Amino acid sequence: MTPNILLVGFMGVGKGRTARALAAETGLFAVDTDDLIESYVKQKIRTIFAQQGEPAFRKIEQKTGFWLEKQVQGTIISTGGGFFMVENLNRIGKVVYLHSSLDGIIATIMRHPNAEKKIKKRPLLQDMDKAQALYETRLPLYRNKADFEVNVEGRKTSEIVAEIASLLTKDGVIQR
Ligand code: S3P
Repeated sequence: MTPNILLVGFMGVGKGRTARALAAETGLFAVDTDDLIESYVKQKIRTIFAQQGEPAFRKIEQKTGFWLEKQVQGTIISTGGGFFMVENLNRIGKVVYLHSSLDGIIATIMRHPNAEKKIKKRPLLQDMDKAQALYETRLPLYRNKADFEVNVEGRKTSEIVAEIASLLTKDGVIQR
């Protein structure tokens, strides 16, 4: 089995953007767990949270996790910020944690022309005090699940991708 490459990390850290750039660099396909969930449920993530609640969303994430483990290989998988909690995470593939401070993440979102939309679509980013607490709780948990950690703060996507590709090539996950 060719392992998958999972990108995990806090909301807005750039998992999707990094996955797409890594796909372009390696020729692998990239998929995103939130996109998979939205097309499976036929609802936007924030509608799922609003209508079914967070526990229901986490169950769908777990179902997605089992599906990925069984059906998908050799693929770059960007994940929602809480997907790392699925019980089979490390059986899906190699886990790369993208790290930035929360201030760095918020500053990057704010610089984006669609900043308002980027915040609005994330139910857990509506209250900054709660987001800060969530960040602090999750930081050690991301690190605990990670095979690799890459610092992304203030760095260009191309640099981040080069570092991930180099780590995964050394580890034998990517053949080049
Ligand atoms: C979540 C992160 C979101 C999305 C959902 C919950 C989280 O994905 O899955 O809103 O628990 O951190 P992004 O990390 O892409 O924002």
